[in-house]
Amino acid sequence: MTAADPGSFPPERLEAFWMPFTANRQFKAAPRLLARAEGMNYWTADGRRILDGVAGLWCVNAGHGRKEITAAVSRQIGEMDYAPPFQMGHPLAFELANEVVRIAPAGLDHVFFTNSGSESVDTALKIALAYHRVRGEGTRTRLIGRERGYHGVGFGGISVGGMVNNRKFFGSMLPGVDHLPHTHSLAHNAWSRGLPAWGAHLADELERLVALHDASNIAAVIVEPIAGSTGVLMPPQGYLQKLREICTKHGILLVFDEVITGFGRCGSPFASQEFGVVPDMITCAKGLTNGSVPMGAVLVQKGIYEAFMSGPSQAIEFFHGYTYSAHPVACAAGLAALGVYEREGLLTRAREMAPYWEQAVHSLKGLPGVIDLRNYGLIAGIELEPIAGKPTARAYDVFLRCFERGVLVRTTGDIIALSPPLIIERSHVDEIFGTLADVLAGH
Ligand SMILES: Cc1ncc(COP(=O)(O)O)c(C=O)c1O
Repeated sequence: MTAADPGSFPPERLEAFWMPFTANRQFKAAPRLLARAEGMNYWTADGRRILDGVAGLWCVNAGHGRKEITAAVSRQIGEMDYAPPFQMGHPLAFELANEVVRIAPAGLDHVFFTNSGSESVDTALKIALAYHRVRGEGTRTRLIGRERGYHGVGFGGISVGGMVNNRKFFGSMLPGVDHLPHTHSLAHNAWSRGLPAWGAHLADELERLVALHDASNIAAVIVEPIAGSTGVLMPPQGYLQKLREICTKHGILLVFDEVITGFGRCGSPFASQEFGVVPDMITCAKGLTNGSVPMGAVLVQKGIYEAFMSGPSQAIEFFHGYTYSAHPVACAAGLAALGVYEREGLLTRAREMAPYWEQAVHSLKGLPGVIDLRNYGLIAGIELEPIAGKPTARAYDVFLRCFERGVLVRTTGDIIALSPPLIIERSHVDEIFGTLADVLAGH
C-alpha cells in the first residue's frame, strides 16, 4: 500500500496513530492525507494540488522538495548515519554551528543543538539556571514567560508558556514561574499594519515582578518576538527594547524564542536583527533544516558559554544533551538549507514581499466575521469573531473550506495564521487571499 493510494487505506489503518494536536475522531472520519510536496505545493493522496500557505508548520522556508537538501541528506546517511555527540564529534556539527553563528546577531556565537523547538526551550531554560549557578548566583531560579506564549510542549515550555489548553491538563508544572501580560488588544491595535503603536508599557510589568521577587531570584525572561501559535500577536513598537533594558538593568537573561521567526520569516535572518534587539539566547528549530530533518538549536552569548568553561578541563561543563544532538543527517540538512537560503536571498526576501503581502492581508477587511488583520514580514493573522457558544468553529470551517479549494491555512482558536514558504510569488499571494476572500464571503 502507498500513501498515494487512498483506495487501499481502510479506516482501521488510521486507528493506531495517535495524532498530535489533532481532533483524532474527526480527522479519522474524514482524513486529509498529504502524499507529495514540491515548491509551494502539496498534493493530497487523491492527487489534488494544495497551495501551502503555512510552510508546512512554519518550517519549510525554502519551499518543498529542495534537491540540494535531499542530496546532502542521502549522501550523509550513506557516509555516516550516526555519530555519538557525547565526548565525540564530527565535522558537520562544527561547520553548522559556524554557519548559524555567521547569520546570527553579533555576540550570539555559540550553539547548542537539540531536536526540536520544545527541546531548545527546555535547554535554554536549563542553561539560564545553570549559568547563574556557575557564576555564584544560584538564587536566580525564577523563570518568567508571558500569557498566551507558546514555547513547545516540554514541561519547561508549558510552564513558561501561556496557552491554557496546553497547561491545564498537566498538573503543577515547574515551580517558580511568573507570566508577563500578553500584548494583544483589539481595542487599541485592531487593523494595525506591521508593529502596533500601543502597548510598549506592558514591558514595565517586568519591573513589577522584580519588585515582588527581587532580581536576585530571577533567572530569565522568555518571549516570542512575534507570538505565532497563539494567533499571531505582534510586539508593540518599543516593547522588546524595553524588555531588553529592564533585563539588562537587573542581570536577568533575555531569551527570544525564534522557533518560528528564525531563518528569514520577518525579513532578517532572525527577528532579533529585524527589531534591533539582541537577547542573551535565541531558541530556534523548524527552518534550521527547512523542516526536512528534526533539529533545533540554542544560540548563546559568548559570556554565557564562557561562564561554564571553568573548573578542571576534564570535567563536563554542562550536564545536558540528547542522543541526537547534532545528528549528522540533521547537520547535513541544516548546512544544505542554509546554503539554499543564502544563495537565493531567502533570509531577507520577506522584506521585499512584505508590502504586497500586507496589501493582500488587509484586502480582507470588511468581509463577514473578520475583526482584525495583522501582518509582519511573511506572517499574517486573521482574527474572526467567534460564533456564540461555538468557539473555534468559524475558523475551523474556513480551514476546511480552504483545503477543499486547494489552499492550506492554519487556525488557532478563531484566528487564521499564515506563514508561506519564503519563495512565494505574487501569484501565490493572490491565490491564497483570493481563496480566503471567497470562503469568508461564503461563496
Ligand atoms: C515559538 C515556538 N517555540 C517552540 C515551539 C515548539 O517547537 P517543536 O514543535 O519543534 O517542539 C514552537 C512550535 O511551533 C514555537 O512556535
